[in-house]
Amino acid sequence: MNITVFGAGSIGSLFAGRIAYSGFDVSVVGRNPHVTEINKRGLRIIEEQEELLSHFPARTSFHSEVTTPETIFVTTKAYDNGVVANSMVGRIFNETPIFVLQNGMGNEEVFCRHFPQNPIFRAITTEAAELIHPGIVKHVAFGKTSFGIIKGQENGFGPRVQDIMRNSGFQTKKTTEIQLKMWQKLLTNATICPLGALLHVPNGKILQKPSINRIFDAILKEGIAVATSNLPDEDFSLTREFIIRVMEKTKENRCSMLQDIERGRKTEIDYMNGFIVQESRRLGLKAPVNAAIADLIRHLERYPQ
Ligand SMILES: NC(=O)c1ccc[n+]([C@@H]2O[C@H](COP(=O)([O-])OP(=O)(O)OC[C@H]3O[C@@H](n4cnc5c(N)ncnc54)[C@H](OP(=O)(O)O)[C@@H]3O)[C@@H](O)[C@H]2O)c1
Repeated sequence: MNITVFGAGSIGSLFAGRIAYSGFDVSVVGRNPHVTEINKRGLRIIEEQEELLSHFPARTSFHSEVTTPETIFVTTKAYDNGVVANSMVGRIFNETPIFVLQNGMGNEEVFCRHFPQNPIFRAITTEAAELIHPGIVKHVAFGKTSFGIIKGQENGFGPRVQDIMRNSGFQTKKTTEIQLKMWQKLLTNATICPLGALLHVPNGKILQKPSINRIFDAILKEGIAVATSNLPDEDFSLTREFIIRVMEKTKENRCSMLQDIERGRKTEIDYMNGFIVQESRRLGLKAPVNAAIADLIRHLERYPQ
């Protein structure tokens, strides 16, 4: 089975690199100069214990894919999904599964609309990677990846992808609870990411002041209200403790939203706190704290300090 990873940035390069290193057929779509480096010298994956050199084809557009992929992993940022989906229309088979491996909520909808026949999966990962130089990706932290079907029939792709991922060194589990995983990840990201970015601190230093604790709790309370309305049978009562544990485990990490703001890049706020606001409106709930937080991040995107 050949896989095309669309979005050879940090996480896409890590996944493609390890999958190719393990002998599976993978190619990537990304940007130059990273693409040129991969084709010339391969991708270097820097890990704590070792360094891997992985070779696989890289291209700058999906149009130039030589083989029609049998599986697609989308690893761009969520806000690029419209362009990504458009560039794939008419170029993939109806049965080709699309795995949307991103943070945020609502990301897969554009693929469901553009590809009504294709199986659409969502994947959630706690792996962490950073593209530190063209051709070089750092595997910042080992994590876990869960994926599950959102639309259509699995057609045996689930177990095959799970095997490939596991054989490539990723702790991966196919789950029937992908919606729950997505909501849990959303609540984690919607608290840690904007607060880390607004305070300019690593994850372990976010909750050092009582005033920030109160904002954290308010973001979470509004988020849990929306999550519970969507998944009434699930229990989100231990979410706070779970997020605190994530913060402790990743205490040295500066979250990706903080890194994006520092680099003058767009963030995924619309798919996190912005999504909570949107869903609250739809459900007749109120989410003033998430709305304010999302506005502050949008302001920082426009006017980085
Ligand atoms: N990095 C992590 O550790 C991590 C961990 C868990 C989840 N995630 C999630 O994974 C997703 C990807 O994150 P990331 O950090 O890997 O982002 P990233 O480093 O920005 O990678 C995305 C890459 O896709 C490229 N791209 C976008 N549109 C393209 C197009 N049409 N053709 C070719 N290339 C295109 C981008 O190029 P340009 O920037 O030039 O547009 C960028 O190089 C996000 O949803 C993120 O929240 C990331």
